[in-house]
Amino acid sequence: MSPALTSEEIRRRVDELGPWFHNLDLNGVATAPSHFLGDYPRVKWRRFAAAIPDDLSGKTVLDIGCNAGFYAMEMKRRGADRVLGLDTDDEYLAQAAFAADVSGLDIEFRKMSAYDVGQLGERFDLVIFMGVFYHLRHPLLALDLIHEHVAGDMLLFQSMLRGSMRVDPVEPDYEFWAVEQFERPGYPKMHFIEHRYAADPTNWWAPNRACVEAMLRSAGFVVAAHPEEEVFLCRRTVRPQPDGPVYPARRSQT
Ligand SMILES: C[S@@+](CC[C@H](N)C(=O)[O-])C[C@H]1O[C@@H](n2cnc3c(N)ncnc32)[C@H](O)[C@@H]1O
Repeated sequence: MSPALTSEEIRRRVDELGPWFHNLDLNGVATAPSHFLGDYPRVKWRRFAAAIPDDLSGKTVLDIGCNAGFYAMEMKRRGADRVLGLDTDDEYLAQAAFAADVSGLDIEFRKMSAYDVGQLGERFDLVIFMGVFYHLRHPLLALDLIHEHVAGDMLLFQSMLRGSMRVDPVEPDYEFWAVEQFERPGYPKMHFIEHRYAADPTNWWAPNRACVEAMLRSAGFVVAAHPEEEVFLCRRTVRPQPDGPVYPARRSQT
């Protein structure tokens, strides 16, 4: 941990490291006070924090797409033994390292993609995959890889959702000429964004609620709690169709 910085020093460093997506409170210095979603992600966290165990001592946590480390830091504050944050963006990783240091929290941050988690060779009690799914060109592959390589027990998942919040039951099969289900708002659907959504070229997909629930199930996760509109707390289980391909790096189903 670095020697204590004054508020002016923190402010100066925060400005140098910006712009920030996470509004963190670093000893009284706010990193993104004008965030378009308000005091983000604290406002969201407050709505589902009670669903996460208060005491994470003895547990390991992997935060994929950790950004400036808001959730990684909250898990460390709950006593997690080991917290590892991954992101592909050097600037966000620099913010995360600075924020954890200023906050006196021992967290490891590493530059790594969700697609490369197989390189970790380790399972974690809690995997956090918040706000990343719809930013990926291959979201189901990422879920499959998380299940295959790093999920040990719980998965905390969040996605931007668009369309109906209805979830209709999905039949095990439909005959070839049955098409009506595809028109129903509660059928799993994901819109592909070819160009831009919200001026962000990394917003590739806009799923509805039924779709993320179905994709989580298909990847081998059971939704145990749905404490907030976009947030799903899942448990790892066996994949219903375990024969589908999952690669980097190859490992057998466990
Ligand atoms: C919308 S932010 C969500 C941040 C944080 N998880 C949260 O919920 O507040 C998306 C984050 O995912 C990161 N990201 C994008 N693609 C990624 C990938 N393939 N692997 C890991 N992180 C990725 C981005 O750099 C960014 O920090």
